[in-house]
Amino acid sequence: MELSNFSKPELLELCEIIGIKNYESKNKSQLIQLINPVHTFIEVCAGGGGLSSGLIKAGFTPLLLNDNNKDCCKTLKHNHYGANVICSPMDEIDYTPYIGKVDLLTGGVPCQSFSQAGLRKGLDDPRGDLMTKFATILNLIKPKTFMIENVKGLLSHDGGKTIKKIIKLLNKNNLYNISYKCLDASKYDVPQKRERVFIVGVLKTIGKIFEFPEESSERPVLKDVLYDVPVSDGAKYSDEKKALFKMIPQGGCWINLPKKLQKEYLGNSYYSSGGKRGILHRLSMEKPSLTLLCTPSQKQTERCHPLKERPLRIREYARIQSFDDDYQFIGSMSSQYKQIGNAVPVKLAEHIGESLLKILVNHY
Ligand SMILES: C[S@@+](CC[C@H](N)C(=O)[O-])C[C@H]1O[C@@H](n2cnc3c(N)ncnc32)[C@H](O)[C@@H]1O
Repeated sequence: MELSNFSKPELLELCEIIGIKNYESKNKSQLIQLINPVHTFIEVCAGGGGLSSGLIKAGFTPLLLNDNNKDCCKTLKHNHYGANVICSPMDEIDYTPYIGKVDLLTGGVPCQSFSQAGLRKGLDDPRGDLMTKFATILNLIKPKTFMIENVKGLLSHDGGKTIKKIIKLLNKNNLYNISYKCLDASKYDVPQKRERVFIVGVLKTIGKIFEFPEESSERPVLKDVLYDVPVSDGAKYSDEKKALFKMIPQGGCWINLPKKLQKEYLGNSYYSSGGKRGILHRLSMEKPSLTLLCTPSQKQTERCHPLKERPLRIREYARIQSFDDDYQFIGSMSSQYKQIGNAVPVKLAEHIGESLLKILVNHY
């Protein structure tokens, strides 16, 4: 029976039975929310929906999902049926209806400006400035909690000054207890080494400290997900590249080629320092994947299928990012790879969502 069909005295009795506190003065709809709470979130820069999928699986309900990329918005609408998806720059949305009404504000504000390989300009980069925009939204709607995902490089950027600046920016009104940690997805049920920083804030008035999720005991590897994968499109290698990969074993790379071919393929970078293990890398069924990127095949960062001479296909990419097989990505093949490669792995997001819910449960 729907809770809305209960009378007020029946709801009061239910609160008593299940041990809810301070229910006496509440009206009927407040009692329903106490008994069966809905935990809401707003996500900006939501991409193809890795983070939102995990949060929904954990038990959150989306109030608003935003991205400025049309394909991402189509993907979000298609998979999160009925969700309020707004396709625009995040700072062009009117957030005033949400003031004081949101449990979680989250976003994977774009990483390029902080990534080890990127420009390393950080907050001075117009994209880095999205952090300032996120802080403005945060200080307007004052959600109970917030969470930002970013690349590991954020922690070392400008000798650690950037992360301190960001925290100061986010906590300009001193409302939140903020903690941050770098989590490796391979320790949270995802067959992929992928390190990302999560910054989490909890309203000081809630009086609880956020605990990052415990690592799982299982360590899935590629053989756990790369069998019986649904058929899908995928990028292809040239005949020359296929011939090179035929000589490279699982877990191997350019190092496994004969010296002459190594020099030919690497050219000048043959003589540069560093392991260059991403070059002509073939993944291993016995290990987690290397971090998936926005494109499945690049000269410096190859991730060849463990058993075949081809890049990973769309559905293989999605499996490794722990998306369900029925989650559909909309757009061209390269747009789909990008949406998946940019995502927070669904299972990692679910673990974080569960930890966030521990803060929110029994807090009204
Ligand atoms: C790292 S991806 C987010 C991935 C997402 N967290 C997930 O788990 O699937 C960053 C997203 O930010 C979006 N974006 C960039 N600038 C934006 C802006 N000004 N407003 C809204 N979205 C933006 C990009 O289109 C991209 O999809």
